[in-house]
Amino acid sequence: MQHRVLLSLIAAAALAAGVSVTASAADAPLYTVVDGTKVDAETLKGFKTWRAAACDRCHGANQEGLVGPSLVESLKVLTKEEFIVTVRDGRLAKGMQSFGNSPKVMENINQLYAYLKGRSDGKITQAKVSGIE
Ligand code: HEC
Repeated sequence: MQHRVLLSLIAAAALAAGVSVTASAADAPLYTVVDGTKVDAETLKGFKTWRAAACDRCHGANQEGLVGPSLVESLKVLTKEEFIVTVRDGRLAKGMQSFGNSPKVMENINQLYAYLKGRSDGKITQAKVSGIE
């Protein structure tokens, strides 16, 4: 059916336009982004967590640093484990607060990491993202 063919063409085009980044071939993608600003549902949760926790107060609206460092740069260097420990425990003496008592943040820590990693990788091209339709 012509309708079918058209739908699969659209699906193929969507796949070609999107970027999926995996930690290794066997894993599910860390995040999927289309056109730089549309992300999968889990990564979208990461963005919402970023907003809810107001990390931008110290790391800047575009994650490029303010009183806290640029997370675009930091996530090129930090491992995922280092990221999680830093967010959970904070670095209180240095002004990074701890979020270990925030269920909103800790329950979405993988999604928050995926979102920030996408920003750091330059695949997510602006801070504000929406869902892939
Ligand atoms: C009150 C200000 C403040 C808030 C809010 C804040 N941070 Fe930070 N953050 C800092 C400061 C300052 C540092 C640098 C600490 C240091 O010098 O080691 C930092 C460091 C970090 C680091 C380590 C960077 C590196 O290169 O080692 C990560 C990751 C991080 N913050 C993530 C977050 C996330 C995610 C949130 C929101 C859930 C958040 N921060 C909220 C102030 C803040």
